[in-house]
Amino acid sequence: MTANVLSIAGSDPSGGAGIQADLKTFAALGTYGMAAITALTAQNTRGVSGVHAVPPAFVAEQVDMLFADIRVDAVKVGMLGGAAVVAAVADRLRRHRPESVVVDPVMVAKSGDRLLDEAAVETLRGQLLPLATIVTPNLPEAGVLLDRAAPADPEAMRRAAIDLHAIGPRYVLLKGGHLAGICSDDLLFDGSAFLDLPARRVSTKNTHGTGCTLSAALAALLPQSPDVPQAARAAKSYITAAIAASDRLTVGQGYGPIHHFHAVWHGGARL
Ligand SMILES: Nc1ncnc2c1ncn2[C@@H]1O[C@H](COP(=O)(O)OP(=O)(O)OP(=O)(O)O)[C@@H](O)[C@H]1O
Ligand SMILES: [Mg+2]
Repeated sequence: MTANVLSIAGSDPSGGAGIQADLKTFAALGTYGMAAITALTAQNTRGVSGVHAVPPAFVAEQVDMLFADIRVDAVKVGMLGGAAVVAAVADRLRRHRPESVVVDPVMVAKSGDRLLDEAAVETLRGQLLPLATIVTPNLPEAGVLLDRAAPADPEAMRRAAIDLHAIGPRYVLLKGGHLAGICSDDLLFDGSAFLDLPARRVSTKNTHGTGCTLSAALAALLPQSPDVPQAARAAKSYITAAIAASDRLTVGQGYGPIHHFHAVWHGGARL
């Protein structure tokens, strides 16, 4: 049976991140994709010029309409905006209880700017993370969630994963995309064992939407995998290959998108 996967996240009209990246990832990984939009953004590969938030009650209404009709096998939660949207989404997940919930705690932009205020971070910690099958912070986000300096080496990443797990998610996948050096290793922790997810850093400017894509890949792969570690390994292979193939696309003059369909496209469309 084909899995039905829902993204609750913001829109990126340039197609590299947000729900557009999520839907491409869901399709590339053999699932049926759906998207409830939390915010419109105006952006391209060079930056974001504006954000237009969806009212929390309307985010909840989109989610309710889907669950009223469709079997949802996994949910990915991305950019949410303020505390009220975080609370509304947590409330809906408690009510509808999907089997797998991936929470990407989007809160620090590539530029380093904070995207979530302190009240929203508190609601994320208190209400949303305890509902997560897996949470996928990058290193600065781990720092904000734990209220300390961002981890910057493997030892600090292990300590952070332990403390993030104590907040309540079943698994923590701490992403190493912001590490210095030739590796981009991620770390998975289930409360007792660590699993390293190693990768060599790809030398490219095309890293727009890497975080969105990894969390979407997890949501697509969890219903198709025997366990979470297996899904995490497969998601890591997918993102690494998508970054490595990004130079097959020519999109924009800034931080370009990664190639979601690297394993599917062989030249043009076959009609
Ligand atoms: N240059 C790179 N080469 C290989 N893997 C990378 C590279 N950059 C990021 N990754 C991987 O991509 C995934 C996303 O990690 P990253 O830390 O970039 O997330 P993020 O900061 O949340 O991204 P975004 O800014 O899109 O939200 C991780 O698996 C990370 O290891
Ligand atoms: Mg991110």
